[in-house]
Amino acid sequence: MKAQIALMLGTRQLEGAGIRGAATDARRLLAHVMDVPPERLYLSIHSELSEDRHKQFLKCLAAREARQPVAQITGHRAFWKHEFRVTRATLDPRPETELLVEVALETPFERVLDLGTGTGCILLSLLAERPAAQGVATDISEAALAVAQENAERLSLHERAHFVQGDWFHGVEGRFDLIVSNPPYITEAEMAELAPDVRDWEPHTALTPGGDGLGAYRAIAFGAFARLKPGGRIALEIGPTQAAAVSAMLAAQGFDAVEVRQDLGRRDRVVLAHRP
Ligand SMILES: C[S@@+](CC[C@H](N)C(=O)[O-])C[C@H]1O[C@@H](n2cnc3c(N)ncnc32)[C@H](O)[C@@H]1O
Repeated sequence: MKAQIALMLGTRQLEGAGIRGAATDARRLLAHVMDVPPERLYLSIHSELSEDRHKQFLKCLAAREARQPVAQITGHRAFWKHEFRVTRATLDPRPETELLVEVALETPFERVLDLGTGTGCILLSLLAERPAAQGVATDISEAALAVAQENAERLSLHERAHFVQGDWFHGVEGRFDLIVSNPPYITEAEMAELAPDVRDWEPHTALTPGGDGLGAYRAIAFGAFARLKPGGRIALEIGPTQAAAVSAMLAAQGFDAVEVRQDLGRRDRVVLAHRP
């Protein structure tokens, strides 16, 4: 079968299953099985799809019909300037998290701490931009840390990235110029309303700390001041309704210059503060 026909049928199949963005997903899945970047798929679209590749494409479509996220099916996701390996143990890096990277790069740092690193996408993007910097990243999930370590090796950043398994600051030594985190922040009530692609496939501990969704920020705000050098900064990704609560937590711990930054959709997305 020609790749173009397979793509058309695949798109229809996903549309029929009620998948939003069916055409984009089918393209990404076909590009994956044809081993070409999605933006170059048009170059191979008139070629014949081998029987093996066609079978593989049908398997990918069935997984997507079952609401498995595309990044978990293909095993990778582009974030900032790199490709990151993604598994069922990690959050699929979101484009809005790139704002946190952008904000973190506004001032110089030599030592950075990333709390709840997942794939390592934030820490590794920062280290790639700052060749003299060193980083530490923590995660409660051993399986996620193994993926982060693998990503560090693939990007040749493993000599500057140190991974620690534990609860937020547990096992972290020394002080930092910069602390970053995109912690779980969905409330218990919001979990029920999430799309099945997220709720049923992404790790529960990556999505929600339970209750009011602010538990991770409480722990991070409480521990961060002592781990930052004077003059250091903290930058936290937040949910769009959490700016006031997270800003107040940081101010209560002695941080100043607390600022909120908005994403491209004009939603509050990052809280930034300075340790005097
Ligand atoms: C929202 S995900 C963010 C992952 C990644 N930083 C990103 O932006 O794609 C939150 C991460 O925090 C981790 N996590 C949850 N509770 C934790 C805890 N108590 N201590 C350390 N990490 C935790 C999860 O395993 C998950 O990898």
